[in-house]
Amino acid sequence: MNAPAPVYRHLLSPVSIGTMDLRNRIVMAPMGVEIVDSDGRANDAIAAYYEERARGGVGLIITEVAAIAYPLGANSIHQLGVSDDAFVAPFRELTARVHAHGAKIALQLVHHGKISRVDTIEGRDVLVPSEPAFRGSMTMASDLTVDEMMKMAKASGGRAPAYRSMDHDDIARVTDEFASAAVRARDGGFDGVEIHGAHGYLLSGFLSKAYNTRDDEYGGSVENRSRFLCEVITEVKERCGAEFPVMVRLDALEYRTPDGIVFEDTEVTARLAVEAGADAIHVSAYGDMTDASAFTEGTLPHTEAKHSALSGRLKTVVDVPVIGVGRIRPEVGDDMIACGKADLIAMGRQMLADAETAKKLVEGREADIRPCINCYTCVARPFFDERVRCAVNPVLANELELSEVERSTAAVSKRVVVVGGGPAGMEAARVAALRGHDVTVFEASAQLGGALRFAALVYEPNHRLLTWLTRQMSELEVDVRLETPATPDAVRALSPDAVIVATGAARQRSNIPGATQNLVVDGDDLRAMLTGSGDVSAALKKLPFVGRVAAKVGRWLGLLKDPDRLAKLTEYYMPIGKRVAIIGGGLVGIELAEFLVDRGRSVTVLDDNDVLATEMAHPRRWRVLTDLRDHGVDLITEATVNEIGAGVVHYTIGDGDEGVASTIEVDSVVIAIGLVADERVPNQFRAAGFDPVVIGDCTGVGYLEGAMSEGFHAARALG
Ligand SMILES: Cc1cc2nc3c(=O)[nH]c(=O)nc-3n(C[C@H](O)[C@H](O)[C@H](O)COP(=O)(O)O)c2cc1C
Ligand code: SF4
Repeated sequence: MNAPAPVYRHLLSPVSIGTMDLRNRIVMAPMGVEIVDSDGRANDAIAAYYEERARGGVGLIITEVAAIAYPLGANSIHQLGVSDDAFVAPFRELTARVHAHGAKIALQLVHHGKISRVDTIEGRDVLVPSEPAFRGSMTMASDLTVDEMMKMAKASGGRAPAYRSMDHDDIARVTDEFASAAVRARDGGFDGVEIHGAHGYLLSGFLSKAYNTRDDEYGGSVENRSRFLCEVITEVKERCGAEFPVMVRLDALEYRTPDGIVFEDTEVTARLAVEAGADAIHVSAYGDMTDASAFTEGTLPHTEAKHSALSGRLKTVVDVPVIGVGRIRPEVGDDMIACGKADLIAMGRQMLADAETAKKLVEGREADIRPCINCYTCVARPFFDERVRCAVNPVLANELELSEVERSTAAVSKRVVVVGGGPAGMEAARVAALRGHDVTVFEASAQLGGALRFAALVYEPNHRLLTWLTRQMSELEVDVRLETPATPDAVRALSPDAVIVATGAARQRSNIPGATQNLVVDGDDLRAMLTGSGDVSAALKKLPFVGRVAAKVGRWLGLLKDPDRLAKLTEYYMPIGKRVAIIGGGLVGIELAEFLVDRGRSVTVLDDNDVLATEMAHPRRWRVLTDLRDHGVDLITEATVNEIGAGVVHYTIGDGDEGVASTIEVDSVVIAIGLVADERVPNQFRAAGFDPVVIGDCTGVGYLEGAMSEGFHAARALG
């Protein structure tokens, strides 16, 4: 019998980029995380962040954008700079820490061109190929809150950029700055550099007809538009030596940009870049940053492996390694390499969510990889010039202080009881168990997950997180007691040293007239109908006979336990009519709208706010609201629901005399508002003489990010 084929054989096989030999084909994609201080120098915190990923088994790290002329041409003063020899010594420290774990590291070199916020703030000219002909569609503004717009404006100092078209002296100077920066990178111990020729920054501005209307030898034909990039590559090779690896990041195309880069341009540019000396091409994409859709289509695609066909096509054009990127999961990446769509796979967000992604693949522990849930929380922050955060990994960007928490055990092992098996409770239990504490989780319902279970049903990436958290409970031998409400007596019987309460939020019953009719369900009813937890009998009473039978059969067959199977089942039957009004356009209502639209429902969302889904990071909000509009969902803002009648919802848009009354006909109404903190269980424990640590939504609704962070820190505080 043949031995089983090694898993991830392609992804984990060695490869070389020029003279740089890599232990595997997993690349950490460049990500600006804004960890460094306001002097652009590599500090301990950023070194610890990269060291974690090197220790985590990645083959190659491509750093965040390092500004070649820092602070000139920089997007943030909290990004790395490489404009002076003083930057070299701290780089040596950083690269040594990465090399100690067997990974290679390349510095990404950039001039931000039209997006050089620091130049705008400090009143300098902003270098561009030519006065931009296309200023952007600005459709994103309508789905931003005032606070977000203010923060974005503040990040640019409240000023408009003063563009200056580059003359030949500027081009020569910037070319020299790129080459000098590459020499410093080499001297700082980097194994190579990546020249950033993508994402609308200076070099890609030259590549794009939308931003380059020059009529000299740097404008016009694609060969001319590629000239500046190629001169930079040639100069870098010249100064660093032909052996020094140089990668080039390009956009396969520019979404939603009139006259933007098309793939045929990129084929030519890539070929010219290789002729100029590039040792690898890294295929990303871009789109109009002021458009509500382009960001999640191009640079951070919402669709998995969105650019894989394009990297595959580029592989037929160049004879150097091609790096694919864009929401690529390991199994997909392995397959892409196997069928010639890429030579290496870069992962961005997954490396933020779990620094040990590569190591776990090597060890055959892929089920233990903490999944990125594609929530865009991380990348939303740099829009405001703020340090990144990850919704599922509280250690991110705090590696210096926190990375030992999960690796070291507590001096004294404690007996810990966690009340509530939702995300906050499970994260607390996970970290406490990792630290050597003896942990028991009480969960009143029949399954772990709490609010995450319903969230997993309506948004698939959440299911991966639920699966991961649940698996950690069994891997770490946490004593999980399902269908066991935690009474103070039951908890006292375990003589705990610490009690953590994470019982989640409560949902207030709506006082909208007519809300008690059978056509109206709220989140608790839906959760009960679909997942079988909570007040199931009250919820089932609202169902027609066929629905009651379906729910019972589903439960009997165990279908309701698994969000994936349940989601599939709901494609055939769901206790929601054809025309649905969702009252409440927050995160819950909007994710539910997406789920219902996918199941053929005609959906109207009514909310009293002027911006919907404000709890979502704005790039995710842009994506989902655009998709809902494209699917014909009526998103009605600033609407007060007055009454729910028989098959009709009465509402008013606007206030007082200005208000305009209207109605919609419906078959079902879902009320997705009314989540409130719920201190009943914590108070019960306090009254019984405990001093519980209270975390998660029961203290105030903080959604997934709040739950994971509070769970982590509660466990850390145990010692
Ligand atoms: C927080 C964050 C910051 C990023 N900063 C950069 C950057 O500095 N340079 C760059 O070329 N791409 C940057 N990107 C894009 C990533 O390199 C990558 O192309 C993108 O995230 C898609 O890959 P993923 O789906 O695996 O995350 C950033 C992405 C994120 C999430
Ligand atoms: S914040 Fe969200 S999108 Fe970003 S890495 Fe974490 S889970 Fe993924």
